[in-house]
Amino acid sequence: MKLFLDTANIDLIKKWSDTGFVNGITTNPTHLSKEGGDPIKQVKEICSIIKPYGDVSIEVTEVDSKAVYKQAHEIAKLDSNVVVKIPCASDYYMTIKRLVAEGIKINATLVFSLEQSLMMAKLGVHYISPFIGRLNDIGADGQALIEEIRTMLNLYDYESQLLAASIRTVRDVHDVMLSGADIATIPISVFEKMMHHPLTKKGMELFTNDWKKINNKKFP
Ligand code: E4P
Repeated sequence: MKLFLDTANIDLIKKWSDTGFVNGITTNPTHLSKEGGDPIKQVKEICSIIKPYGDVSIEVTEVDSKAVYKQAHEIAKLDSNVVVKIPCASDYYMTIKRLVAEGIKINATLVFSLEQSLMMAKLGVHYISPFIGRLNDIGADGQALIEEIRTMLNLYDYESQLLAASIRTVRDVHDVMLSGADIATIPISVFEKMMHHPLTKKGMELFTNDWKKINNKKFP
């Protein structure tokens, strides 16, 4: 299973990119506006940092479908490891179809249903990104959607990868991992929590203290 970081923060991407845990990055307009600065410079730097490990999803910001098509091409040219993120809205379906046919890798974002996922799989997008946290926020079941999309992709042998997005907790990562998501894109706060377990630290302290009680300290 691949893990992506869901952030545009350069310092944190640098901090975690060499660990071997990070296989890609997802950015969005919210992440970029939070960081401030020049967004083009920002995404180019992210692409270069993460290039040895994976790809970077960069979202279109235009609204009109013709402008989205043009911008998608511009975004794809930013670096060789760019995946263009386009909202899974019916206005853009023909645009997505055309871009896929032209060899542009697409991350279909803001996916909230199995039916949307089927349509994106049929268009041949690279990633399908269901937003589980936002579904849970409105009382729906984000986790169930991950399971359903996995079943659909397997049943009909589609090649699109299932990218679980809008992750809010470590438990979300646990659940999507067992439901067959190909990737989870994780906010840094959740990623850092996954690194620790209180019982590991407690256990280490216990072993260190018990070791001190042995008189003969000859040991490899
Ligand atoms: C995914 O690619 C999105 O950037 C992200 O997961 C959105 O999550 P949010 O609902 O926490 O904003």
